[in-house]
Amino acid sequence: MSGVSFLRRVSLHGFRGSLSRSKSNEPQPEMDQPPSQQPLVLPKTQTVLLLHAARQPYDLTEDYPVPELRDDHEVLVRTRAIGLNPVDWKAPELGGDIVHQRQSSRLKVLVISTDYRDLRKSTYQHYVVGLDYNTVRLPPTLSYEEGSTLGVAFVAAALSLGVCMGLDFSSILDGPDLYTLLRQLPSDVFAADIRDECLNSTRSHERAQSGDWLAVWGGSSTSANLTIQLARLAGLRTIAVADTAKHGLRLTHHRSVRPDLLVDSHDPARAVAVIRANTNAKGGGRLRFAIDTRGKESAGWLAQALSGDSVQHGKDSATTGAPPSPPGTPDESSAANSDDGSESSSSLTSSAHLIGLTGLPKERVTECVVYHTVPIKLFHEVPAVGRALVEWLERLLARGLVLPPDIIDVERGLGSVNQGLDRMRRGEISGGKLVVRVD
Ligand SMILES: NC(=O)c1ccc[n+]([C@@H]2O[C@H](COP(=O)([O-])OP(=O)(O)OC[C@H]3O[C@@H](n4cnc5c(N)ncnc54)[C@H](OP(=O)(O)O)[C@@H]3O)[C@@H](O)[C@H]2O)c1
Repeated sequence: MSGVSFLRRVSLHGFRGSLSRSKSNEPQPEMDQPPSQQPLVLPKTQTVLLLHAARQPYDLTEDYPVPELRDDHEVLVRTRAIGLNPVDWKAPELGGDIVHQRQSSRLKVLVISTDYRDLRKSTYQHYVVGLDYNTVRLPPTLSYEEGSTLGVAFVAAALSLGVCMGLDFSSILDGPDLYTLLRQLPSDVFAADIRDECLNSTRSHERAQSGDWLAVWGGSSTSANLTIQLARLAGLRTIAVADTAKHGLRLTHHRSVRPDLLVDSHDPARAVAVIRANTNAKGGGRLRFAIDTRGKESAGWLAQALSGDSVQHGKDSATTGAPPSPPGTPDESSAANSDDGSESSSSLTSSAHLIGLTGLPKERVTECVVYHTVPIKLFHEVPAVGRALVEWLERLLARGLVLPPDIIDVERGLGSVNQGLDRMRRGEISGGKLVVRVD
């Protein structure tokens, strides 16, 4: 443990000082000198991992240019640790040190990269460009490794809860009310493919509130971990569906992700029956919100759970064949907007809401369940959203209200990324994160 602290301290201080360029292609060694006296020397080139074709391993490549900053919102970060993502490793995340920005500062940070198009922001390199509104200051209590585990999952969780479900975080360390924030922005800030999800998918009277139930299928995942942490802070009652043989003890004893109800995923029909039995009127209220982290099949089971009695009784159009996402348009017969944009409460029905992180069912189980995809690009395309989430995460981490997921193992060096991804493909990493330490 003290070794980690020592590394962290040296790393943090190692890059303080003036900025200049050297001809070396290696990251500069860290020396145990007072930070203010050590000049910062950035190399011109670096070592990176390149992907030359789909389904190929990454290629360790030297003499690749260190990326240049283009505007005042960009910072250059020296990578220290990378959290690998299982299926979609287009969006890895990292902890590192800011080594170059217009307004000079040296900080230990988490860079959350959701922008796959800009190679300068790709994580598998020693020096990475981050946007300041996507870069989170890490408190001294967190290591680079811990920091690298939680960024994308936090963003996915916060947008699922705050945008798709309309949950207001303002009572938790002055967090964002994303539902309101989005409606205060000009509508052209939203890319066409997410505008409906951002503005029209959940009506104001349907917004999630403290006391509502939320079911999360794939309860062992990192995304579920952050989702349940945020949901619990906001007072939701949580149901985690997971392989209880693998994860039961850990989840039921976990300080921050212990769900109100843990349901075994082995028999999905039984899991749906258990959820329904516990969230009917007798169990304290209907289930209206669910998030799936596994795929369209389990998302289909969640849709069944959300449909409540209606499917059993055959009241709804179970096989409409309609495209799944996003229906979202307010139902004129059931929602009447008043002048201030709120909806009159008379004769309003409330839809249920299913968010698929990895896919949604092909067919609609019932018209009453609205399907959502997470508008993840909001985070890097709309600075007001990125900044609100980043600043809130800084406060949550500093106060220990959000904890990083478990680290299953740590690999060493960029060259070990392929091996790490293979371990994930083989299913060896479960219930936490595999991290690559880059020094
Ligand atoms: N749409 C978005 O914006 C967005 C954002 C974030 C994540 N995602 C997606 O959400 C999903 C979950 O991401 P995550 O980072 O939360 O996942 P994760 O924590 O890395 O892993 C999730 C779970 O998948 C299972 N698993 C591990 N290796 C596997 C393998 N080889 N094959 C099948 N299952 C395996 C394990 O559960 P068990 O041990 O219980 O089987 C593991 O706990 C991914 O598909 C990711 O791409 C989407």
